[in-house]
Amino acid sequence: MQIKTILPVVLAAAVSAQNATMNLTSLISSNSNLTGLATLLNTYPNAAAGLANATNVTLFAPSNQALQAVESVLGSANGNTNALVAALLSYHTLQGIYYASNISSTPQFPHSMLNNTLYSNVTGGQVVECRLEGSTAEIISGLKSIANVTQANLNFTGGVVHVIDSVLQIPGNFSSVAENANLTALLGAVNATNLTSTLDEASDITIFAPSNSAFQNIASALGNITAAQAAAVLEYHVINGTIAYSSSLANTTIKTLGGANLTITIENGTVFVNSARVVNADILMTGGVMHIIDSVLNPNNTAAANATQSGAATAYSGASSGTAVPFTSGVPTPTTTIVDLVTSTAQVAASYSSVVAAGGSGASTAGAGGKTSSAGAAAMQTGAMGAAALFGGAAFLANV
Ligand SMILES: *[C@@H]1O[C@H](CO)[C@@H](O)[C@H](O)[C@H]1NC(C)=O
Ligand SMILES: *[C@@H]1O[C@H](CO)[C@@H](O)[C@H](O)[C@H]1NC(C)=O
Ligand SMILES: *[C@@H]1O[C@H](CO)[C@@H](O)[C@H](O)[C@H]1NC(C)=O
Ligand SMILES: *[C@@H]1O[C@H](CO)[C@@H](O)[C@H](O)[C@H]1NC(C)=O
Ligand SMILES: *[C@@H]1O[C@H](CO)[C@@H](O)[C@H](O)[C@H]1NC(C)=O
Ligand SMILES: *[C@@H]1O[C@H](CO)[C@@H](O)[C@H](O)[C@H]1NC(C)=O
Ligand SMILES: *[C@@H]1O[C@H](CO)[C@@H](O)[C@H](O)[C@H]1NC(C)=O
Ligand SMILES: *[C@@H]1O[C@H](CO)[C@@H](O)[C@H](O)[C@H]1NC(C)=O
Ligand SMILES: *[C@@H]1O[C@H](CO)[C@@H](O)[C@H](O)[C@H]1NC(C)=O
Ligand SMILES: *[C@@H]1O[C@H](CO)[C@@H](O)[C@H](O)[C@H]1NC(C)=O
Ligand SMILES: *[C@@H]1O[C@H](CO)[C@@H](O)[C@H](O)[C@H]1NC(C)=O
Ligand SMILES: *[C@@H]1O[C@H](CO)[C@@H](O)[C@H](O)[C@H]1NC(C)=O
Repeated sequence: MQIKTILPVVLAAAVSAQNATMNLTSLISSNSNLTGLATLLNTYPNAAAGLANATNVTLFAPSNQALQAVESVLGSANGNTNALVAALLSYHTLQGIYYASNISSTPQFPHSMLNNTLYSNVTGGQVVECRLEGSTAEIISGLKSIANVTQANLNFTGGVVHVIDSVLQIPGNFSSVAENANLTALLGAVNATNLTSTLDEASDITIFAPSNSAFQNIASALGNITAAQAAAVLEYHVINGTIAYSSSLANTTIKTLGGANLTITIENGTVFVNSARVVNADILMTGGVMHIIDSVLNPNNTAAANATQSGAATAYSGASSGTAVPFTSGVPTPTTTIVDLVTSTAQVAASYSSVVAAGGSGASTAGAGGKTSSAGAAAMQTGAMGAAALFGGAAFLANV
């Protein structure tokens, strides 16, 4: 994982009044690419109410094609759809005005209006990631699904609209993200130590999530540890009270949930956590952010990275790998599991499950953007992944 620039960049949120005379409703109805959005707003007037008079905002407006791709999922959902549409609309609305020119190759994480705790536990509102890839502004949301800005800087009285080519995905909780990222060892370990609900319901956390191979590489060291020792190891991977997106990771030490400090080191654009390398950064979660790392951290060996290391399992010296991935017995694998990624509420989850069970599809082109792994692309072809295109795909597995 290369992180191009480490210094946080504060997006310049324009504070001056807009010199545009069209209100949002008029802007949307005058753009032939946004007739689907206009229909959505008409269909869910309660959900749309907050948007009509919003000021000082940036709206990412899904194009007709983008909405079409998720239509069957929204259309088939039950009475909770109104709440979901409201949440989706707030997630598509940033606080503050961000023009395309404010988006650079350095990732930025502006807050959306989504602060309903049924969907997000990020203080100040769940974020999206914005960055420039080549000349395309990318808006990255749950499970790192990528939406491209296809029409930028449409001004209205309350701010600016950018048309995007896929619907943003509300980030899921720790468990659903970990399942979709195939972090089955971590899931099993968290479950075995009864930390699942703690992590799923947490606010403002950062999780450094070891990959399966990270666990497997030190299998001998994990074979006989007690639940308390396992919990101490896991708590050394969690920062409580701070969401450290890649843009704010710098050479520093950070206190973990378990109490001991982690050392963050940046070397040539690669981020190390102690001696573990961040291999996939900035996976958004309901309660914060996850960065996948290539080795398991050891609260009893807090040595920082040094120039001779290459992310090997040096934190557990003498440990050897095993044939099986530790902690994974009984943990479902992502290829056969469809997870609700939008919300932790069982009701809304159930409404999607029924859509999924019915083979709800029509979303084979949505969501994954240009970074789809071959596994993810193949999975998208199946009806069962229809909901996953809205609520998360396997788009980032390729980088793990
Ligand atoms: C706003 O735009 C109108 C027409 O484009 C222009 O005449 C006016 O001077 C502008 N006002 C400001 C404050 O820039
Ligand atoms: C938006 O502008 C149109 C046309 O000027 C007007 O009819 C409508 O009431 C306005 N909507 C809001 C919410 O102000
Ligand atoms: C619709 O979007 C395309 C780009 O995706 C753009 O070329 C076209 O001008 C847009 N149409 C309108 C009416 O804005
Ligand atoms: C939006 O503003 C218009 C005109 O000021 C007002 O009539 C309407 O009630 C407002 N709508 C909402 C949802 O606040
Ligand atoms: C607009 O929103 C941004 C981001 O929340 C905030 O910093 C700024 O003060 C707001 N400007 C106005 C004029 O309210
Ligand atoms: C969400 O934001 C709204 C508008 O800024 C605010 O009134 C409300 O208190 C916030 N709710 C939470 C849970 O932060
Ligand atoms: C947010 O936190 C509250 C309180 O801890 C919890 O009840 C709720 O389930 C959390 N929300 C999500 C979406 O995880
Ligand atoms: C919207 O407003 C911004 C800032 O005033 C300006 O740079 C941009 O050109 C405007 N967009 C359009 C399509 O006029
Ligand atoms: C998930 O991880 C397991 C164990 O590391 C591996 O065998 C499997 O191929 C992975 N699945 C995907 C979809 O990457
Ligand atoms: C986890 O919770 C279960 C059920 O409450 C309990 O039986 C078990 O001992 C707990 N395990 C640990 C490691 O605390
Ligand atoms: C989670 O742990 C419980 C015991 O606390 C166990 O019964 C269950 O099978 C475990 N589930 C998974 C998926 O590991
Ligand atoms: C987004 O743009 C990239 C090129 O920057 C392209 O590869 C990708 O296919 C586009 N995604 C969608 C969903 O059109």
